[in-house]
Amino acid sequence: MKAIILAGGAGSRLYPLTQVSSKQLQAVFDKPMIYYPLTVLMASGVSDLCLISTSDDLPRYQRLLGDGRQWGVSIVYREQPAPEGIAQAFLIAADFIGSDSVVLMLGDNIFSGGDDFPRAVSSFDGGATIFAYHVKDPQRYGVVEFDHNGRATSIEEKPRQPKSSYAVPGVYIYDNDVLEIARAVKPSARGELEITDVNLEYLRRGKLQVRRLSRGFAWLDAGTSTALHEASAYIDAIERRQGVKIGCPEEAALVRGFLSIEQFEALIQKMPACEYSDYLRVVANEWHRLKGEI
Ligand code: DAU
Repeated sequence: MKAIILAGGAGSRLYPLTQVSSKQLQAVFDKPMIYYPLTVLMASGVSDLCLISTSDDLPRYQRLLGDGRQWGVSIVYREQPAPEGIAQAFLIAADFIGSDSVVLMLGDNIFSGGDDFPRAVSSFDGGATIFAYHVKDPQRYGVVEFDHNGRATSIEEKPRQPKSSYAVPGVYIYDNDVLEIARAVKPSARGELEITDVNLEYLRRGKLQVRRLSRGFAWLDAGTSTALHEASAYIDAIERRQGVKIGCPEEAALVRGFLSIEQFEALIQKMPACEYSDYLRVVANEWHRLKGEI
């Protein structure tokens, strides 16, 4: 399974913050936004990643994330010259996907809680798997409608009158047919290759699975300054209460076995003294304790 993180776009709703740095590099409490989707993917066991962004922002991502080797994963980069739609990611990264299945994750989607994504990735056996999350304002999203047996019957992009309260979050798992399907998608009225059109084609073929995310699961939006602030406050509250970090790629790498404990500790040595490295030391100590080493 490969993974694409889409982190382009103009981020105009966060102006003037996005004059200095891309939206997905903004801080969500104590980490850059991109750490959150990246960690979800790594925690799901995916280690072959491609990040897509604009030519201006790609060097910034490369400086932050490198080639992924420090976390035992591989990260390659591709450019999206203009924000011509989420489904364009498959055309841009076709050579990276090759003949594999792929998870697409939007770089501004922040999740916390549950093991829905790792389960969906490990049990994926073809077609498409997307998710549904109950929200108060479904008209802002792709909206999925279910029949009385819980089967998806329609998906509409930003409908004026939503047929349900279930929005489709920015995590999508596809088999290799997505390449052929994305190539056939035509630009929508807003001039974009819509991810909803890809999902509709899988639905038409009877190959779309929609998994409802549980109530305990948090899907946070960081699209406006207020939402960004609220997302930071949420992460702060959970991290402080539980003493664990959300969106920590180093920890996911250790837990998933992409890094050995020795490599993990060597990584900490290279970090400045700060709350983040303090936390990783706690993780390392706990790791030894559980292994009976201290
Ligand atoms: O967040 C989930 C929603 O994402 C889904 O429910 C919708 O079905 C889906 O269309 C999308 O909704 P938006 O239209 O609100 O997405 P937005 O244009 O805000 O783009 C989402 C992220 O993807 C954003 O961080 C920018 C990035 N992006 C977007 C486009 C269109 C790109 O990198 N390139 C693009 O061409």
